Amino acid sequence: MLQALKTVLSTHYSTRLKKIPQDLSQLMESPKAGGRGHVALPVFAWAKELKKAPPLLATELAAELSQDLAPGLQSIEAVSGFVNFTFAGNYIQDLLVREILHQPEKVGHSQVGNGRKLVIDFCSPNVAKPMHVGHLRAAVIGQAIVRLAKTQGFEVVGLNHLGDWGVQFGKLAWAFLEWGKDYPFAEKPFDSLYKLYVRFHDEAEKNPALHDVGSKMFKRLEDGDAEVEALWKQFVDISLKDYQRIWDQLGIHHDLVRGESFYNDRLKVVEKMLQEKGLLEESGGAQVVRLDEAGMPPCLIRKSDGASLYATRDLASAIYRMEELNAHVNLYVVGVDQTLHFRQVFEVLRKMGYAWVDHCHHIAFGMYRFKDTQISTRKGNTVFLEDVLKQATERVQAIIAQKNPALADAGRIAKQVGIGAIVFNDLMNDRIKNVDFDWARALDFEGDSGPYVQYCGVRCLSLMRKFGRTISAQMTTVLSSEEEVALLRCLLLYQDTLKNSYAHFKPHYLAGYLLEVCRRFNQFYNKCRILGEARELEEARMTLVQMVHTVIGSGLYNLSIELPDAM
Ligand code: ARG
Repeated sequence: MLQALKTVLSTHYSTRLKKIPQDLSQLMESPKAGGRGHVALPVFAWAKELKKAPPLLATELAAELSQDLAPGLQSIEAVSGFVNFTFAGNYIQDLLVREILHQPEKVGHSQVGNGRKLVIDFCSPNVAKPMHVGHLRAAVIGQAIVRLAKTQGFEVVGLNHLGDWGVQFGKLAWAFLEWGKDYPFAEKPFDSLYKLYVRFHDEAEKNPALHDVGSKMFKRLEDGDAEVEALWKQFVDISLKDYQRIWDQLGIHHDLVRGESFYNDRLKVVEKMLQEKGLLEESGGAQVVRLDEAGMPPCLIRKSDGASLYATRDLASAIYRMEELNAHVNLYVVGVDQTLHFRQVFEVLRKMGYAWVDHCHHIAFGMYRFKDTQISTRKGNTVFLEDVLKQATERVQAIIAQKNPALADAGRIAKQVGIGAIVFNDLMNDRIKNVDFDWARALDFEGDSGPYVQYCGVRCLSLMRKFGRTISAQMTTVLSSEEEVALLRCLLLYQDTLKNSYAHFKPHYLAGYLLEVCRRFNQFYNKCRILGEARELEEARMTLVQMVHTVIGSGLYNLSIELPDAM
């Protein structure tokens, strides 16, 4: 794609421009919106060195390079401080056909990761509690980054840092022994577990002594009591099974579950290391690492009652991922409200001397807000993730019943479109922003939405079906209308979009790009006749349609959204 063009140019012109090809290629970019050509070379830095006005230098360079056109190149022109290169139409078409249609499942891939390992901790809920819409964000952003990282050649390990340890498990175990028989654990295990959790907290509000009872039970668990441990294990299994049922609907997959309990034996080791490095201090009976010079409150390592903390487990888990799993990159897809926590953890790791901490990143995201509803587990007005997915499917089902009642397999398609709408609506905006959720917008088939992109892909597929023959994937005619040229240019950018989207861990670059492809496609579709044109033109346009279909399908896949085959 664009990279291939940059390579051609930088190899060809490196001697003339007195730069090594790699540097030259790095400098090159896609012309700014509305700019002409396929590749632009900014000359500002050179102009400064040479003490020349950038437009003048660009004009001189364009004239010089034009004397010796690189293979496939049609023209070179100066556009203010840039030298813009335009390739011949057939050259661009052949390149796109090769890169998109010859290996459709790898379209746009690069080798930035070079097989190195990337561990990503995403959507790690707390046992016995249903996932709420906050987990939806962690799930979809995380899964998109998983797929983006794979396109860049990383070996990805999706990890679930399950909240499976703490005093609440003593409370739950006690509640189970006391009231367990009142709930249908055999038929509805997770629902029963959650009801037990809620009941315990309700009763404890009236009778605070229950908290102590729960703590005692937790102590038994910590001491390895077999009976309590069996209960605990059961709670974890019940929860994981239920989470996976919901994750399946979203295409979420973890490769490893390494819950908080996994680090129980490693906490002592971390504390010892901190002690030996002279980082541990006592403060009001608790053990802390001071972070004054970094302008942060101390990081709590062990509470005065001896309980270890969330942060200590995250120190242990970072060391585990980097040193035992041999990760090169370690990501945490967790809400922005935990920003201080991760800054503290990373700072402590830095003080411990771990240079790899620069490869640990908190991938923060904003809150999810439904109109008039706040998210909280305690208050009982939580918006559960599963309900949102169910509602999305039902709403799309109603739209289909109204607009296209004859649609075959409507149930499956409603799911693909409904869930796709939720996911796209989330990934379309910069993750750090809050999502103000509005059903009408997420399901607007004509606006910037998942269904809009899916519909465009389906339109391509339906053209391919009507065409009825195998598309030769040969473009003997050069497509030259404004709409066609713009669409082809847009396709050239797919690879760079994946690369940038990964590099900044920002799936919305890709989502925005897909919207742009669809807009360009619709302009082409409205302007140019496709079926019924003279044979060669029809073939060329259908090849373009197939390329658009492939890029939309691939792009949606990388956002973990399915492309239906009809709508
Ligand atoms: N269980 C936590 C929660 O639901 C998220 C865990 C994130 N991962 C981590 N390594 N701290 O808020």
